[in-house]
Formats: sequence, C-alpha cells, structure tokens
Amino acid sequence: MDKQSLPTVARPVAPRPSRRGRFGALAALLAVFVCLQFLISTTSFYTKTGHLPPHAEHILERCHALYTEPGPSRHFHHRTVSDRFVPGTKPTLLRHARIWTGEQNGTEVVTGDIYLNKGIIQGVGSFGNLLEDGLPPVELEVIDVHGAWVTPGIVDNHSHLGDGPSPALDGAVDDNSIHGITQPWLRSLDGLNTHDDAYELSISGGVTTALVLPGSANAIGGQAFTIKLRKTLERSPTSMLLEPPADINGTYRDPHAPLHWRQMKHACGENPSRVYDGTRMDTFWAFRKAYDTARQLKEKQDAFCHKAHHGDWDSLQSQSFPEDLQWEALVDVLRGRVKVQTHCYEAVDLDDLVRLSNEFEFPVAAVHHAHEAYLVPDVLKQAYGRTPAVAMFATNARYKREAYRGSEFAPRILAENGLRVVMKSDHPVLDSRHLLYEAQQAYYYGLPENLAIAAVTSTPAQVMGLDHRVGYIKQGWDADLVIWDSHPLSLGATPAQVYIDGIPQLDSPYVANKHTAFQATPKVPNFDREKELAIKFEGLPPLSPKKSDVEIVVFTNVGSIYAPLAGKVQELYNNAAQSLTGDIENGIAVVRNGSLECYGQSEGICPLDEFVGDRVQRIDLKGGSIAPGLLSYGSPLGLEDIQGEPSTWDGAIYDPLGGKVPSIVGGDDSVIRAVDGLQFATRDALLAYRAGVTKAITAPTHYGFFGGLGTSFSLGAAHKLEFGAVLQETTALHVTVRHFGSKPSISTQIAALRRMLLTAASSVAADEAPLKSSEQARLFVDVVKGDIPIVIEVYSADIIATLLLLKAEVEAQTGRSIKMTLSGATEAHLLAKEIGEAGVGVIFVSSRPFPTTWEQKRVLPGPPLTKESEISLLLANNVTVGIGIEEQWSARNTRFDVGWAALEADGRISKAQALSLASTNLEKLLGSKVEAAGLSDLVATEGGDLLSMEAKVVGVLSARRGVVDLF
Ligand SMILES: *[C@@H]1O[C@H](CO)[C@@H](O)[C@H](O)[C@H]1NC(C)=O
Ligand SMILES: *[C@@H]1O[C@H](CO)[C@@H](O)[C@H](O)[C@H]1NC(C)=O
Ligand SMILES: *[C@@H]1O[C@H](CO)[C@@H](O)[C@H](O)[C@H]1NC(C)=O
Ligand SMILES: *[C@@H]1O[C@H](CO)[C@@H](O)[C@H](O)[C@H]1NC(C)=O
Repeated sequence: MDKQSLPTVARPVAPRPSRRGRFGALAALLAVFVCLQFLISTTSFYTKTGHLPPHAEHILERCHALYTEPGPSRHFHHRTVSDRFVPGTKPTLLRHARIWTGEQNGTEVVTGDIYLNKGIIQGVGSFGNLLEDGLPPVELEVIDVHGAWVTPGIVDNHSHLGDGPSPALDGAVDDNSIHGITQPWLRSLDGLNTHDDAYELSISGGVTTALVLPGSANAIGGQAFTIKLRKTLERSPTSMLLEPPADINGTYRDPHAPLHWRQMKHACGENPSRVYDGTRMDTFWAFRKAYDTARQLKEKQDAFCHKAHHGDWDSLQSQSFPEDLQWEALVDVLRGRVKVQTHCYEAVDLDDLVRLSNEFEFPVAAVHHAHEAYLVPDVLKQAYGRTPAVAMFATNARYKREAYRGSEFAPRILAENGLRVVMKSDHPVLDSRHLLYEAQQAYYYGLPENLAIAAVTSTPAQVMGLDHRVGYIKQGWDADLVIWDSHPLSLGATPAQVYIDGIPQLDSPYVANKHTAFQATPKVPNFDREKELAIKFEGLPPLSPKKSDVEIVVFTNVGSIYAPLAGKVQELYNNAAQSLTGDIENGIAVVRNGSLECYGQSEGICPLDEFVGDRVQRIDLKGGSIAPGLLSYGSPLGLEDIQGEPSTWDGAIYDPLGGKVPSIVGGDDSVIRAVDGLQFATRDALLAYRAGVTKAITAPTHYGFFGGLGTSFSLGAAHKLEFGAVLQETTALHVTVRHFGSKPSISTQIAALRRMLLTAASSVAADEAPLKSSEQARLFVDVVKGDIPIVIEVYSADIIATLLLLKAEVEAQTGRSIKMTLSGATEAHLLAKEIGEAGVGVIFVSSRPFPTTWEQKRVLPGPPLTKESEISLLLANNVTVGIGIEEQWSARNTRFDVGWAALEADGRISKAQALSLASTNLEKLLGSKVEAAGLSDLVATEGGDLLSMEAKVVGVLSARRGVVDLF
C-alpha cells in the first residue's frame, strides 16, 4: 500500500505544505481528519442560538467522509470468502510448485503447495495433510504441477481493453472523447465492451487484472477502472470491476465502509496538443484551469465543513453543501484519493507535470510511456508526494518525436535510480497477451530479475492501490495466479493454467514440452557499456558499425554454426553433435575478409599457423553461434525514420484505384520503385543491424491497392552509394487486397487484379509482347510467367480463397505457374491445405496473431489455446513460411520472434528451419535471388545462439563486402 498515505504523527494545527513537500499536505489532511474525529465526538450539534439544523448529523458525516483515506479495512486479510467468489468454484490444491510470491522485494521463492478456496489463497507452503484429513477428495481439486513456476496473475497497468476494441469496429471505439480537453467526469467504465476478443487472448498470456484507461487525446481523459478479465455470470461490465469506487451507481456511500482508490487518466505532450490543435502551453493551461476550478470547490467544502464542525450553523443556514458533479472527481485528486495515471513522455512534459503537481498539491501515481524519464529521474523525484512510478514499453520506441530518445535500458536505469518500474501494454498498441514479454526484454537489457517479474505483478498492483489483494501469492490475497511452462523470464514462457478468483480459465491448455534449461533463470548478456552510452548521449548513442581492421578474425568457443547453403539454412557445426564423451567442448571458426574459411571442433582442424600475424583478432564467443543474418519485411523500415512525423518519410504513392495518377509519372500504369525512396542509417535500421538483422526488403508505402516494386538493402550501410548498400534494386511486385472502408470494394480490387493478370496471360499464351507495352503491363507478364513473385497483402480467408481461384484461372490459360506470396495472412490457417496444394507461400505479419481488424478476426492463437500455431500448421502443410513485422522499431526483435516461433512449435521444427523463417524463406517469397552460398551475411553471437535470450550479437561477417563489422 502507498506508504505516503499512512499517517505517523498527528498535529493539532494544519501546517502549510511546503511547495514540493512530500508529507506536508498529508499531515494537513491528517490533522483536519483528527480534529474532525475529535469534534464529531465532542461538539454539540446545537447552533449558537440553541437550534440543531435538521440535517446536521448528515452534514457532519458527509464532511467526515471528505477526509477518509482510501485503502482496505484493517480486517481485510481476515476475510474467509472473496467478494468475487463464485459459488460452486471447487477448492484447489496446487502441489509441488516453485512459487514466486512477490515478497521480499520480489526475491522470495517458495517450493511447496498453494491452497485456493472461496476465491482466496488460503495458504502457501505444505498442504499435503489436506489430502489425508480435511476436505473430501471429491470436492478438492488436486493438481501436481511437478515443480513448475507459479506467479501471481499478471496485472496490466495501462490498457484500453474493452474500450479500444479488438477487432476494431467503428461502432465500438470508446476510449477517447473529443468534446473537451479536460473532462475528469468521464468514465472508461461507461464504454467497457464485454465482447472484446482480447479478453480470452490476454488471459491465455496470464493477464488477470487490467487498469482500463481512457485514451490520451485529452489532458484529462477521465476516470479509469480496474477489471478482472474473466467472464462473470452476470456478463456485465460492472461485475468485472475490482474494488470500484462507491459512486459508480450513485449509491450513497457508507462513510464507515472502506474507501476504494479511484484512478484518473491525464496526458501531456503530443496527443492532447494534436487533438485540440494546440500546443503544450495550451494543454498545461487547460490543466491549471481545471485544477483551479477543483481547488476552489475544495476550499469551499473545507470552509463549509470547518464551520459545521465548529457548530457555526447560523452562517451555514442559507448554504447547501458545496458540490459539483463535474468536478468532484478532480477534487478527490486534490484530496489525495485518486491514483493519477499520466501519459507523459519527454523531459519538458515531465517537468511541466511535476510543477503542476506541486502547484496544486496532488500526487501522481505513475507516468506512462515516459520515454525520457530515465534521463530526468531527479525531476520525477521532485513531484508532490511520493515519486511516481514509471510505466513503460521495453523496446517500442522512436514511433514519434516524443519517443525518439526511448532506450531499452530505461527500466534498468530508472530502477538504479530508485524509481518503481512497471511494464505495460497500452493494449491494443501491444497485445496485452504478451505483456510478460515486455518484462523479459527489460530483464534482457538489465532490469534485475526480481524487479522484472514485479514490474508486471506486484509493482502495478501497488501503484494501483490494489496490492492488498492482487500482485502477490500470499495467504489472504485473491486466488489469481499463473502456472508457467518455463521460467517466467525465459523467452516464450506460456501459461499452463491461469486462475482468476480461484477459477481455472483455460479449458484444455496445450502445454509445450520445454527443455529443463528453460526452468532456470535465463542468463543474460552484460550491457553496462551500452547503458552508459545511452545516458551520455541522451538516448541517441552512436550506432554505426565499425569495421574490423584486421584481415582474419578467429572466433573461439563457438557453440554452433548455421549458414544458408543451396537456398536453405543448414547446420554446419554443433558442439553437442561433436561430443563423444558427453562433455561439451566448443569449436572454432576462422573468418578471412568476412568469409567463413574454416571451422571445426579444434584448432587442429583449422591450421592456425596460417593465420598468424598482426592482422589477426581473436574473439571468444563463450559458447555462442554463427548464424545467417536475418531479413526484415513488413514495416516501412528504410522508407521512414519517425512513424509519427511525415517529414521523415518517403511518403505514400498514388493509387490508381483511388483516383487518377498524375500523367507525369506515367498515369495509372506507372510503377514506383521503393529503391528510389530509400533512407539509410535510420536508428531502427542500425539497432536491427546490431541485433543480427542485416538486411530488409521494403515495398513502396501504399495505403491503397497498388504497391509497386520492392527492394532489398543492407541495414548497416551509411548511404545508398556505399558498396553493398542496395542488394537488389527490385524484388517482387506488391499489391494489397483488403478492406479499405466502403471503396474500392474487395470485388473491385479483385477485378483490377484479374484484368491485369488475364491481359498478361493472353499475351503470354499467344507468345506476344503485351499489347499495351507499359512498364506495368510488362511486369504483369513477368508475374504470369513466374519470373517474379507477386506479393499480396491480404488477411481474410475469404479473400485468400478468391485469390487461389484467380491464380488457378490465370494458370489454366498459360500453363505456367505464378509465384504468389500472401503477406499478413492472419486467417491463412483456415486454408492451410489449399494454400499448400496451390504452391503459394505465406508471410505472417506479424508472427504472433492478433485480431486487430474484422478481416483478421479468425486467429489461430497457438499455445496454450491451440496446439498448432499458424506457423507450425502452415509448415506442416508444406507451405514456405516467412515472418514479418508491422512497425520498424520491432525489426531488432526478429531474433526473438523466430526463437519464440520455434518454441511454440514444440520440437516440430528444427533450429535451422526456424532461422529460415526470417532468412532464406523470406528471400524466396519476396523475390530476392537467394545469394550464392558463401556470400550471405553471417552474424556472430556471444553467450548463446542467435535465437536465445542468453546471446548478444557481437559482429556481422560480410563476405560480399569483405569485412567483419564489430559492435
Ligand atoms: C530491491 O531489489 C533491487 C534490485 O535487485 C535493489 O536494487 C533494491 O535495493 C532492493 N530494494 C530493497 C528495498 O531491498
Ligand atoms: C452499487 O454498487 C455497490 C458497489 O459496487 C454495490 O454494493 C451496490 O449493491 C450497488 N447498488 C446498486 C443499486 O446496484
Ligand atoms: C499502473 O502503473 C502505475 C505505475 O507505473 C501505477 O502508478 C498505477 O497505479 C498503476 N495502475 C494500475 C491500475 O495498474
Ligand atoms: C509434405 O511433404 C512431405 C515430404 O514431401 C510429404 O511426405 C507430406 O505428405 C506433405 N504433407 C502435406 C500435408 O502435403
């Protein structure tokens, strides 16, 4: 619980709180409270003239209620039944668990049992005796978890679940009101949709509780509410709420009942400025004006109550209790009874917010997003009351100016400065199903293990004022917990079961069989130097790779080597395979001028005497790997720097289906080439390069049907004229067939595609040059002949089915096969067999499905909800599968996307196959001529293989450029 709200000293006279004092206002509140208690018991209710006004007692009670502190009753943990208990829920005994309790700063791990009953954790420890005596066995559900990790249910601190709907439909966007810049009277509860597809998906990722916030279009967006995600018998939004404030249904609040915390959303910076066509100055004036209104009301109430308590009823005779329904919630903020959750990014915004909190004397529970908080921790420490916690994404940054300096080291740096760190999803910005992945990445980049798990469990619970019942596994807490298939911080950790209020949420979970190594805390690399540089360069450390100036690099202690050979990734070397004795000994790899020349178990295999001299560098990979450089596809990487800033983009092309294309570029027949718009050395490109993603294929940015020609380029190059910067000027032809609102219809888009393909087909069949010999017509001839692939962005299974028929129709005319690749492809799993038979390839963008729009509604979620993932199912149907990304910041995470996909396939795909998902398969599917063996980039990692969280990328071997880049 919020320590700051626990009074320690009572003083009879309220002191003026210091400007940035932490305890001043609370002491004042407390003093008033103590005086009131005293007065209530001693003051006579009579006026000076001897008359007691009719409602005196009611008024005094109401005044008293103004100063109550939120929080549970002292007896809360003596409850035997939860207020959320669902009759009929069986008591459950989980045996032999490894329990992360949340206690001792997140360091306590107990081995034993957990007993759940009546919606509550009744005990943690040894409960074998329940089996002998105690409950009749028919009633008690006993589950042996065989040493699995169990954590509290995940608490998502910042979500728009239910208000920002999935799939998105115009009828249900309820997270932002645009009718005023400060609207503390709005409530996210009033827009909480109970039919969102995301509830079940998020639960399957272990999320049990979420704070549903209004959007950030307003300075004050309104009140937020905490929900538990499970279905309720009543099926109403209200019944999902956890400890809602008493005022939600207008019920008169019993002043003696415990007061629940309220939550309110604030936002600074770009979002409110943009929506209200103003500036940061306007936003902060709006805040000050609103807070001034609330302050005046508060002062009136305090003055009124002061008189009432002094029995000065005469002067109150003509007055009623000062109140205003629009402002009461903001008055409660000033009374310290609301957790203020503030979307606030930059130093300037955080500084503004801290000044606001001191001017009006209210505490801020958390700043959210806060991409520059790690650069100004001392500013946050000056906030009124307790230092706000910081709620963040792990690596989602640079998507707008405010986020440009975001750093993957921010959670670690903030924790080192003593700030509380929370990882959040901003669902549906990130799918809250994978909130734990945010904690895993924060851990990878240096947030300590105990704080990383706490960042999605006990810390958010604490900052929400709900840590007396969620966020911990302790006797008396709510029975919300997750049994994991591996250590919660290991990549791809997936729930084997999730309990909310003691009720199991997964009907028949599929649990992958993970190697025991995944049960231990993952070892992660050291990033001390990178962290220091992030601070030194205020979030913009230099990222350009440095070429090694030696001719020969000898990698020692090599665990495995994978490389593309004959268009497929193959395992060339693996230490385990070499071990005769069972003792694992690592190997060696010798690289000359960027080319892998020799590798093997021992130095004897590569005659090192040939490789001596000044021009040799030895690098110990500590059991790491050499693997193919990965390829990124799907985002505008290379065509955009900052997603939210159009002046940093190449821009979008004209769409012939959306209007006339200017004749100067060739009119409707024009073909735009992405290569002509390339931008090199963007921060996302360089970060991806440092994470083993050495190249990208990007199509021209298009918001309509026609896309133009893609291009393949290096992510490490400084500019286009550098040797090897552009790998292949043009790759495949790209089009999109999907819902664009009412116009042009899907059928219109198909008609356009059919006309172009059939026109080309007839000239191919007649073996003639196309009649109308535009570049576009020639391209379609190449497509029909199978000389270049056509990549179609498509999501819905219905459209995919139509495309398969169209392909067959065209091929029947020519007798040739079209190379067709479906990209996006969320619903492709419904046609896995047909796609396989048609010889069509699939690129999943992104690699983990989410029903963002209606045409993506039918997802195959993968474990624990289904055995097969979309990737494993399509592979099983002999489809060539690639994976892509939606936004360029995530290019750097490709290696984890691949590793995760492999883990989900539960041994059904090999490491080499997994690597091909983001390398050779993608190249084939996108029309990149798979480079001749030996000329592809390779990536060296230290500490583990490229797909694991143990590894750090230390270099790129470029045979083509004849160099090794070192980081
Ligand atoms: C909690 O853990 C963190 C990281 O392990 C440590 O830095 C911090 O001092 C601990 N806090 C307390 C109160 O023990
Ligand atoms: C109003 O809500 C409170 C708490 O949420 C509940 O106890 C009470 O029964 C509700 N009253 C009505 C009339 O629904
Ligand atoms: C969300 O997280 C912040 C800490 O970052 C905290 O202040 C806030 O109260 C949390 N709210 C909820 C409901 O999780
Ligand atoms: C996939 O290919 C393999 C090997 O060619 C074959 O045995 C298998 O039947 C194919 N599977 C499907 C679903 O076509």
